[in-house]
Amino acid sequence: MLPAENVIIEAPPDGQIVDPLSWFDSPGPFELEIGSGKGGFLISRATNNPDIRMLGIEWANKFFLYIADRIARREIKNVHVMRTDAKFLVMNHLPPACIDVLHLYHPDPWPKARHHKRRLMQPDFVQAAIRTLKPSARWLIQSDHEEYFQEMKGLLDHRPELSQIPWDQRESTPGPEWQGTNFEIKYVREGRDIYRAAFAKES
Ligand SMILES: C[S@@+](CC[C@H](N)C(=O)[O-])C[C@H]1O[C@@H](n2cnc3c(N)ncnc32)[C@H](O)[C@@H]1O
Repeated sequence: MLPAENVIIEAPPDGQIVDPLSWFDSPGPFELEIGSGKGGFLISRATNNPDIRMLGIEWANKFFLYIADRIARREIKNVHVMRTDAKFLVMNHLPPACIDVLHLYHPDPWPKARHHKRRLMQPDFVQAAIRTLKPSARWLIQSDHEEYFQEMKGLLDHRPELSQIPWDQRESTPGPEWQGTNFEIKYVREGRDIYRAAFAKES
């Protein structure tokens, strides 16, 4: 069992810019998952791809602790978890050009119009996230909520730094046993459509 300090990365204090690779024993491509939920994708991807370094950000304490426990029990060394608001981390604490792949799967859609302002994907967040992508980095989005998906896709389509690319199974499928994120599995069972798009930053 790994000790908590080898699994959990504390949210940085105000004003601090962090180097994500400083959290790992050795260098490698760095991938960020926002809103990891129960950690199914995060843990599968890290386990099946030992050469990559991963951080999952999860705001809900219950899920954050669940993910940390799963990582610690399995003694997975190339993945960490942080409890914070992803918007806060991306906009205030990540340096430019540090992410190779950004994964955003089933972000909360806040379906009521009066709650849309709570959605993560807003122009200021998108601009900040693009700044953290390395040249040629990819940003993958997936949702079961068509209206929010189209809004997210529209925000990314309009950015001159990004181009839509074909959905790449090598990046979105952690390993051969993969059946989907927890929300994806649930919604596929209910017969809902799943919407996906992948974007690449200019090289
Ligand atoms: C609908 S769930 C999807 C979970 C997982 N990605 C999946 O596909 O099964 C959205 C998750 O994102 C987390 N979340 C929402 N907003 C967040 C934010 N601003 N920063 C970090 N996590 C956030 C929620 O707590 C929740 O666990």
